[in-house]
Amino acid sequence: MKRVLISGAAGQIGYSLVYRIASGEMLGMNEPIILHLLEIPPMLNALKGVEMELDDCAYPLLQGIVTGSDPKALFDGVDIAILVGAKPRGKGMERKDLLQDNGKIFVEQGRAIHGKNMKVLVVGNPANTNALVLAHNAKDLPKENIRSMMRLDQNRAITQLAKKANVSVTDVKRVAVYGNHSPTMVPDYCNAMIQGKRATDVIQDMKWLQGDFMTAVKKRGTAIIEARGLSSAASAANAAIRSMQDWVFPTPKDDFFSAGVYDSKKDLFFGTAMHDQKVVSNLKLDPFLEEKLKETEKELIEEREGVRQYL
Ligand code: NAD
Ligand code: LMR
Repeated sequence: MKRVLISGAAGQIGYSLVYRIASGEMLGMNEPIILHLLEIPPMLNALKGVEMELDDCAYPLLQGIVTGSDPKALFDGVDIAILVGAKPRGKGMERKDLLQDNGKIFVEQGRAIHGKNMKVLVVGNPANTNALVLAHNAKDLPKENIRSMMRLDQNRAITQLAKKANVSVTDVKRVAVYGNHSPTMVPDYCNAMIQGKRATDVIQDMKWLQGDFMTAVKKRGTAIIEARGLSSAASAANAAIRSMQDWVFPTPKDDFFSAGVYDSKKDLFFGTAMHDQKVVSNLKLDPFLEEKLKETEKELIEEREGVRQYL
């Protein structure tokens, strides 16, 4: 039995996420689940509706639902927490514009966490720096138990490469996205593989890899906001589920995944390539990507300094 907390459960991503988790899609069909759904007081009525619909699904694995707005009570006994609850950006904003408002949420939630074993995935933006705020405030929780989400960026990069090479997404492996979940993120075309060959050998178009490919991945969140008038939700929920599967299940031999993990030397959550919960450290990049890594690190440092008061 696993207790799974979702914050912001009555929001857009929450509505795409809770039913898939309750159905068993995230942890498998042999793992009963108790959902802990955290919301702010004005949304508790909407959350009641989410709860009613969960009841009406009659999911065999769903053993209970706890709802409320008190983080201390809701985090109690939780095994997995997916922290979505935060303001989304609108048109013309960058994710870091949310830092002051959303950072506060992660101070409060960090202080409310008392388990040493909980796995916490931060989705609310700006996710890397919110994860840092949480890590500094959750004194009992090892920092390795906190990740910020990079899976959506990884999935976006996989699809762009698959379309360009005219192959299935399942043919594309070892796609890492480094650094910040922001326009400075660094999708790695150097180490990506397509049908067992280097992506750079299959695509042979460095102008596209360093240009349109990188831009499409970096700017995808903005493109979705422009098209939908709202930020990504279904694909974000999907990436949250995949991130947890990346964390609790073995990584396929010929693949790796991306997650924002704590770098203790830098005191930053940095998007990193991972295999079986270990950082993949022997990856070579070209000078172009090396330069981009510096830019994304610089931005993460600036974000951290912007929330010094929360650390
Ligand atoms: P939304 O506004 O539809 O839902 C957010 C929900 O969070 C709301 O119901 C709100 O009441 C709730 N909330 C706010 N403060 C809370 C708190 N302190 N405790 C609990 N709940 C709280 O927004 P959304 O579209 O679901 O997006 C949520 C967040 O996820 C945004 O910050 C968005 O930018 C981010 N996001 C991140 C990624 C990623 O890849 N990391 C992808 C998509 C969206
Ligand atoms: C995304 O990448 O879709 C999310 O981070 C939402 C956003 O603000 O772009």
